[in-house]
Amino acid sequence: MIILKNVTKTFGDTKALDNVSFEVEKGEFIFLTGPSGAGKTTIVRLILGEITPDQGKIIFQGHDIAKLKRKEIPDHRQKIGVVFQDFKVLPERTVSENVEVALAVIGADQKEWKERVKHVLKLVGLNKKGRLFPAQLSGGELQRVSLARALVVNPKLILADEPTGNLDWETADKLMELFEKINSEGKTVIVATHHQGIVGKLGKRVIELREGKIVGSGDKGGHKEKVKIKVEEV
Ligand SMILES: Nc1ncnc2c1ncn2[C@@H]1O[C@H](COP(=O)(O)OP(=O)(O)OP(=O)(O)O)[C@@H](O)[C@H]1O
Ligand SMILES: [Mg+2]
Repeated sequence: MIILKNVTKTFGDTKALDNVSFEVEKGEFIFLTGPSGAGKTTIVRLILGEITPDQGKIIFQGHDIAKLKRKEIPDHRQKIGVVFQDFKVLPERTVSENVEVALAVIGADQKEWKERVKHVLKLVGLNKKGRLFPAQLSGGELQRVSLARALVVNPKLILADEPTGNLDWETADKLMELFEKINSEGKTVIVATHHQGIVGKLGKRVIELREGKIVGSGDKGGHKEKVKIKVEEV
């Protein structure tokens, strides 16, 4: 579904990504991990088409993202549901309205809104909170609103950048269970996080970055040791 091939991205003197290659299959759940500054958010932004690589390619569903025309970018973004650390909810709108905004943006038929919003709020366990305002919700609930908003447009991929950054451990665990459920229902999921605790628990594929390079990759679930891969030099 997504292929990064020899991707390099430099900002000024910083090599945010240095010859990074990996592939994510449709229906997979992967973690991008690594310490602050490792390049996780840069990968997220490249997949969204917000920035383009200096070298290498990012292929999403067979299309080279860097070659998309400006008018094709909104269509590309629509295929990706994004979840951020800071929730990005609109404070003056109710929970339901926050989710509806995503449908308005893609121009979905207004007759369908109610049903679709109800469906995703139920999926994330917020069916009783639709009329509340963000200030009346907990951090975990706010993050579930942002997940509902990401899901309502029926994206192929859920891309989350530090989704548990503002949550306590228990709430973070619950959110990850929700990502797992969404993945088991067929969505491809990529979670960028430096939160090692949640990564180890789920037993999903992990791509570990450090200073812009892949330093490890493998399935952590059930394995004590990380499977090291050799990063080929070009
Ligand atoms: N727009 C930018 N301008 C300059 N430098 C940047 C920019 N974006 C990223 N960088 C640099 O690229 C490197 C990788 O940044 P990135 O945000 O991808 O890291 P990260 O792994 O997401 O870190 P964190 O865990 O702190 O979110 C960092 O050294 C960062 O300072
Ligand atoms: Mg980041």
